[in-house]
Amino acid sequence: DDVVTRMKNVEMIELGKHRIRPWYFSPYPQEMVHLPCIYICEFCLKYRKSRKCLERHLVKCNLRHPPGNEIYRKGSISFFEIDGRKNKVYAQNLCLLAKLFLDHKTLYYDTDPFLFYVMTDFDIRGYHIVGYFSKEKESTEDYNVACILTMPPYQRKGYGKLLIEFSYELSKFEGKTGSPEKPLSDLGWLSYRSYWAQTILDFLINAKPTGENEKPQVTINEICEYSSIKKEDVISTLQKLSLINYYKGQYIITLNKDLISQHMCAMEKRTIRIDPKCLHWTPKD
Ligand code: COA
Ligand code: NA
Repeated sequence: DDVVTRMKNVEMIELGKHRIRPWYFSPYPQEMVHLPCIYICEFCLKYRKSRKCLERHLVKCNLRHPPGNEIYRKGSISFFEIDGRKNKVYAQNLCLLAKLFLDHKTLYYDTDPFLFYVMTDFDIRGYHIVGYFSKEKESTEDYNVACILTMPPYQRKGYGKLLIEFSYELSKFEGKTGSPEKPLSDLGWLSYRSYWAQTILDFLINAKPTGENEKPQVTINEICEYSSIKKEDVISTLQKLSLINYYKGQYIITLNKDLISQHMCAMEKRTIRIDPKCLHWTPKD
């Protein structure tokens, strides 16, 4: 697809109170891309040529949150579920915006097969988009995320992991394991590896022995069931952390004190978490 390999074409965007410099090419219409800045409505994601045009739009635009259903709310964080078929214009505009920060993903003009989960942060002016992920309505490969993005002004604050945690929470509700669609970007891999390691370590540390003088016994399948992380990702994480050892004829997982205290430290930094009680959602099938 030659579209994705084209040169970066948009100089700057304005989105709500943020001015953001794009990273990659995105197929905005030709008449938009020669402008110094594209002005985007932070609620409906329509784009305009000037601030004046956007102001005129904002008078008419009544949205103060993404379209679709609010399926999660805790504190100021909400998630909205948007059907790419029912809200086509919004979904296409979200893909255009996201492509500015996604390198090797093809842009789906056909948004019909996807659901979009948009995470927002609320203040008195409205529900501001922080990030999103898309998900195929039906994935033959057990993908539970197609594209995932934290808007650059919100990056490196833990929101990426929150999006990932949410995607696995949906998989738990579906009673399935899932994995992100490949290829992933470097930043995508970093975030997923870190999420997988923390989730699996949490499970292992809390595993209880089955009897006196017994070591706790866990199976890979139990880890998958608990986390909805796909088997291959569990195994690669355990290997990456060098946790699997072969001893007296069987595979054992050993946790050393350093790793445990490192893990405890890292978990303290994850101050915002997904609370499954705040998810009001039933999988469609
Ligand atoms: N450099 C080094 N590490 C980084 C990093 C950077 N620029 N950005 C994130 N990380 C690490 C964080 O340190 C954290 O790991 P840790 O908790 O073990 O320290 C982990 O990645 C997740 O950070 P978090 O703040 O939760 O993620 P984020 O909100 O920055 O979002 C992405 C992560 C991948 C969603 C974001 O970088 C993004 O939108 N990138 C562009 C789109 C993309 O590439 N998507 C993936 C392919 S579809
Ligand atoms: Na895309």
